[in-house]
Amino acid sequence: MVQMSKIVVINGPNLNLLGSREPEVYGSTTLAELETEVVEWGTERGLDIDVFQSNHEGRVIDRLHEAGAKADGVVLNPGAFTHYSYAIHDAIAAIEIPTVEVHISNVMAREEWRRRSVVRPACVYTIFGRGIRGYRDALEHLVWRDASPPLTVAYGAESDQVADLRVPTGNGPHPVAIVLHGGLWRDIWTRDLTDGVAADLASHGWASWNTEYRRVGTGGGWPASVEDVEAAIDALAGIAKEHNLDLSQVIAVGHSAGGQLALAAAKRQSLVGVDVGSQVPIAGVIAVAPMADLESATSRRIGAERISDFLRDSDGEATPYTEASPAAMVPLGVPQVVIHGSGDDLVPADLSASYSAAAADAGDTIVYHEPAGADHYDLFHANSETRRLVLAELKRLQSE
Ligand code: DQA
Repeated sequence: MVQMSKIVVINGPNLNLLGSREPEVYGSTTLAELETEVVEWGTERGLDIDVFQSNHEGRVIDRLHEAGAKADGVVLNPGAFTHYSYAIHDAIAAIEIPTVEVHISNVMAREEWRRRSVVRPACVYTIFGRGIRGYRDALEHLVWRDASPPLTVAYGAESDQVADLRVPTGNGPHPVAIVLHGGLWRDIWTRDLTDGVAADLASHGWASWNTEYRRVGTGGGWPASVEDVEAAIDALAGIAKEHNLDLSQVIAVGHSAGGQLALAAAKRQSLVGVDVGSQVPIAGVIAVAPMADLESATSRRIGAERISDFLRDSDGEATPYTEASPAAMVPLGVPQVVIHGSGDDLVPADLSASYSAAAADAGDTIVYHEPAGADHYDLFHANSETRRLVLAELKRLQSE
């Protein structure tokens, strides 16, 4: 495999005006500052970055063709061309290198016409609404795809109903880790957050299934998001043979809001049981810095508005906590591990400590770890204490 080294970052029309153009939407960073940052981020990762901006569709297309011949990947913000340029779609499809689509603003939360991207089907990934950071995340995603190539599988008809499979080397059968990213169920946060975790698990003998699910703003919310997670897990039944997956050893690993989804999915499954053949049993859950108690979090103003958006159904009715908050659903009936760093200042660890105590009191088998000083994102760092605990606990759950 050619190592990802040269990436071209292309900005389309009107992005030359960044800094002064609608700063309330696009921020105050100028194009020159953005380009300097992007080159720095690339250099830190050992990448050689070329930057380009044009207001002309044909020039963007020419630059894509040139990248196809000389580079290993593209990060493209097509500006308004996104919404109608089939010519740019075709240029992306014609070149044989991966393109990540980036938007600075949250296109899903603006005018209806911005929700449609005609270039998206030709791109390997789309990031929006994260401001300038989106370009850095796009570079990182390209690096991970190259280092540990995923097989992206659709488990439903919506663009968010996909998951990335990474299979370890060796013959298997491979135990499976379902990876569920966090981000307070918001549309702007997607599974690239857990690319590194999913790649690491695959390199430690676990097939990883880094699952996207619809979120608030993309058709998700309660229960659509958890139903997507359930559908993604059940979809493993259709690919298990081909990839030699061991469906008796499926553990859900969820971070933050993804922890809530993992715990809730396990409970829902234990309530109705598994229809063997078409459904895949969740054998255990590892919840990392999870949103395990939506009621306490709300009363303590921890992500309260996001929780309320997540729990509101299409008629504006609030879902009762007993249906969606793991703390109100114990016992879950599956073995659990909760890992929550004492240095987490976004979601305090005491929420997880009391959740774990309540689950144990209710009869669940549960182990709680509180790595000293670890923050909310400790899981994302290779070789961190949280990562080490996840790998060790997966092994323990596997041998039980
Ligand atoms: C944009 C979003 C587009 O809808 C808009 O036309 C742009 C910028 C963004 O970065 O948010 O020019 O791509």
